[in-house]
Amino acid sequence: MALHRLTRIVMGVPNVEETAAYYTEFGLRPCAPDQAAPGERTFATVDGGEQLTIVHSPRRRLIRLGVGVDDPDDLDRVAAALAALGVPAGRDEISVRAEDPGTGVTVRVEIAARVAQQPTPAPAFNAPGVTPRADERAPGILRQQPVRPRKLGHVVLGSTDRETSQRFFTDGIGLKVSDEVPGIAAFLRCSTDHHNVLVQQAPVAFLHHTSWQVDDVDEVGRGASAMLEADPSRHTWGLGRHFIGSNFFWYLKDPAGNFSEYYSDLDCIVDDALWKPGVWEGARSLWAWGPPPPASFLAPDDLGALMAGAHQAP
Ligand SMILES: [Fe+2]
Repeated sequence: MALHRLTRIVMGVPNVEETAAYYTEFGLRPCAPDQAAPGERTFATVDGGEQLTIVHSPRRRLIRLGVGVDDPDDLDRVAAALAALGVPAGRDEISVRAEDPGTGVTVRVEIAARVAQQPTPAPAFNAPGVTPRADERAPGILRQQPVRPRKLGHVVLGSTDRETSQRFFTDGIGLKVSDEVPGIAAFLRCSTDHHNVLVQQAPVAFLHHTSWQVDDVDEVGRGASAMLEADPSRHTWGLGRHFIGSNFFWYLKDPAGNFSEYYSDLDCIVDDALWKPGVWEGARSLWAWGPPPPASFLAPDDLGALMAGAHQAP
């Protein structure tokens, strides 16, 4: 696969410091302030390196999304595909950039090293008739250290023109479709992760959520519990398991209004020929088990304000 990862995102918010404090608590590692860019805050994951930059913006939104490729040939292919779609793109030695008008996001396809993750075996789970963890307490209950996301997993975007945005990401950038909810969204991948990008129709372009990989379901629960102990109003939706992608999830809300998800045990598509994309509708398109999603997850409370802001923006 020419595309191999999400590199980094640039998120715009009106309240940079408050939002930066939230992502520090969330478990991302703050990087030293960049003197060349005052007001910007950058964060790293354990395995993905610098993956989140927060900058000032009058309204919350995703400004930039980075997709990693291996070499200049990959950039040539993306540039040609964007040209065939009639999408203007900028090109230099190491990247191709283009904006998707529906989501307002600039996608930067860039030559980048692949994410190397140390093999992390799942803890042993006892089951009826099977006791791989005999005479021991579960490791998940004994952990004391703060939860640290391993990498950025995916972003979900609201688009004012979903079909065009989806074509931009698939036919233009080159993401593949893993599963589909007809008329609503397609789960798109630029790596072996089941999904890295999802675009849904919305009355205004906005960032619905970012999702961050943790080791296992205990880390999903521990991470969210620690965030809620500090501020219960952050709770949005969880603990549950998605049907599409199979991952455990827990969603929290940052001070700008973006949702942030801890996830573990996502489906991985290593051999494209062996994965059969499915078409899913109804509840399954949202989740397999767990509490039902709150209305504010499906349509964030600030959508009206974001629309008003978008109309005022120069
Ligand atoms: Fe998600």
